[in-house]
Amino acid sequence: MTKPALILYLAAPRGFCAGVDRAIKIVEMAIEKWGAPVYVRHEIVHNKFVVDGLRDKGAVFVEELADCPDDRPVIFSAHGVPKSVPAAASLRQMIYVDATCPLVSKVHIEAQRHAAAGLQMIMIGHKGHPETIGTMGQLAEGEVLLVETVEDVATVAVRDPNQLAFVTQTTLSVDDTRGIVAALHARFPAIIGPHKEDICYATTNRQEAVKTVAPKSDALLVVGAPNSSNSRRLVEVGAKAGCKYSQLVQRAENIDWRALNGIRSIAITAGASAPELLVDEVIDAFRSRYDVTVEVVETAIEDIEFKVPRVLRQPA
Ligand code: F3S
Repeated sequence: MTKPALILYLAAPRGFCAGVDRAIKIVEMAIEKWGAPVYVRHEIVHNKFVVDGLRDKGAVFVEELADCPDDRPVIFSAHGVPKSVPAAASLRQMIYVDATCPLVSKVHIEAQRHAAAGLQMIMIGHKGHPETIGTMGQLAEGEVLLVETVEDVATVAVRDPNQLAFVTQTTLSVDDTRGIVAALHARFPAIIGPHKEDICYATTNRQEAVKTVAPKSDALLVVGAPNSSNSRRLVEVGAKAGCKYSQLVQRAENIDWRALNGIRSIAITAGASAPELLVDEVIDAFRSRYDVTVEVVETAIEDIEFKVPRVLRQPA
């Protein structure tokens, strides 16, 4: 039986960013240096395949520091942690390595700098996401006000409208955030913020690539986890760019083939925590059903790398 023809637009950049790459390396190197088990507070990155792979190598994933023994090393995830977490680890004299992405740490420093200058902080982010919890947790409880939408900006109660600054989560939708920032500036003209937003290069580039491939595709498939903020934003960005149908899938086995019936083109991308291996798996699944022509659509070239902490570069 002849297979139907399908054009597969492969967005680039996609998948792993420098922060995710570094965080995974940190866990691998920590296991190599100190032996198993090494504890990891929260999923090191939001991807089950990655987490399962590290678990097989000797990582133990827990949600709270209280679940780690004193005498084993613990790693903090790429999303960042409230200040109280390393403080508690120090108090217990634990060995810990912070795998917070340097671009998230930069936001932490920004928030602390503004607070030290006497400004009240507003954070644009998603309630309950570990990165938001980590960034807000750089300051005392109640010191950072969270806004998620333009509507929140209208009601947020501040101490002094002339003494305000804002930071953002790094994995937000670039376009939605622009609207929230504009609303903040409109209501609080004196507010101080980053030059653009704190949205990182990887989030920005992946969203740009999706905006290019989505409008010319019958469907969009994002390889990523349901709890991955940047992956979910890619689905939304695709829909806003005019793609009528999209799926967020962790693995090829999750693809809803029935919903794709009749398509002639598909755009594929992957969230910043999804390994390329899973993208290959998805492409192979399409090849088994369609006569696929792959067209790579590259909108940016990335060459950013982050070093792992010094403690892991030194011999044991
Ligand atoms: Fe860092 Fe952005 Fe990746 S903040 S972990 S480079 S998605």
